[in-house]
Amino acid sequence: MTKRIFSGIKPTGHLTLGNYLGALRRWVDVDQHQSDALFSVVDLHALTVDHDPGRVRRLSRQAATLMLAAGLDPELCTVFVQSHVAEHTRLSYLLECTATDGELRRMIQYKEKGARARAAGESVRLSLLTYPVLMAADILAYGTDEVPVGEDQTQHVELSRDLAVRFNQRYGHTFTVPKATHPSVAARVMDLQDPLSKMGKSHASTAGIVYLLDDTDMVRKKIMRAVTDSGREVEYDRERSPGVANLLEILAACCQGNPEALAGGYESYGALKRDTAEAVVELLRPVQERHAGLAADGGYVDGVLKRGAERARAMARPRVDAAYAAMGLLPGV
Ligand code: AMP
Ligand code: TRP
Repeated sequence: MTKRIFSGIKPTGHLTLGNYLGALRRWVDVDQHQSDALFSVVDLHALTVDHDPGRVRRLSRQAATLMLAAGLDPELCTVFVQSHVAEHTRLSYLLECTATDGELRRMIQYKEKGARARAAGESVRLSLLTYPVLMAADILAYGTDEVPVGEDQTQHVELSRDLAVRFNQRYGHTFTVPKATHPSVAARVMDLQDPLSKMGKSHASTAGIVYLLDDTDMVRKKIMRAVTDSGREVEYDRERSPGVANLLEILAACCQGNPEALAGGYESYGALKRDTAEAVVELLRPVQERHAGLAADGGYVDGVLKRGAERARAMARPRVDAAYAAMGLLPGV
């Protein structure tokens, strides 16, 4: 049987180099060719934090357009928007009845984001706590074997595994137990201005974030101004030189190289930054060109998403119906 793959991106900001190197590029290069794969703009997840409806709508279309521009081929895989397929929320409720509040309160992202919101005097939406359950529903609804994600998502995929195992034990075998997969380099691209934090699309300061749609000058400027370390030697050591290590990983990911081996070829930070900037510019160029073409043809993207949602619904429905029956709910007529 072909392997089933599912992954998603939430439309909470413009897509970054971290999204591309940590996830999207591998979906394009590897996953869509080797499996029966689904890739989703997981828009319901963008509602877990304070949001502007118009912005979420624009970012959802932009994320879908960028996924296609990066090379996802609707003939090979299924590209769709999460909220178009009701099976995700239908299953999420059953999984809320499978998870415990304790295991959700332990999620690192909830603890961090919740603490940040509380410190700013904001309230925390209940959905921020339950969000990993919806993510588990995204994954389990499709009988997913593998979830290609950046490293920050490992804990959430672990929860999906736990819920699948628990559900199967209590109610009979219904779900495949999924596992996370990560790229070999750049599974965690760091902020260029703060190399101890992940390059995240919704950070307040954008100076350390390369967006996929940044123009060439902007990409060069951000990389040339990346914070490096006080040492002089170019070495690959995430602990001692996190800024330099991050640049080496980005460069290695761009040229399919090895960060440690690349370090030996540089005498100065300046040269490393210049090469990294050029490599990123070249990496993004074709994606940006295709994006411009696709963005001018909104009807095409909408058509892909419509067909994708139909396919996804048909794939998820039988398993979600089976889960309803297994949990003791009376089948509808
Ligand atoms: P998100 O932007 O949180 O919706 O993430 C979409 C995908 O990109 C997930 O698989 C993340 O793990 C991945 N990702 C996001 N930021 C980074 C980063 N800085 N480095 C590596 N992967 C990332
Ligand atoms: N939580 C993921 C993130 O923040 C996005 C996501 C939602 C996802 N549902 C998913 C990723 C299912 C993989 C599979 O990046």
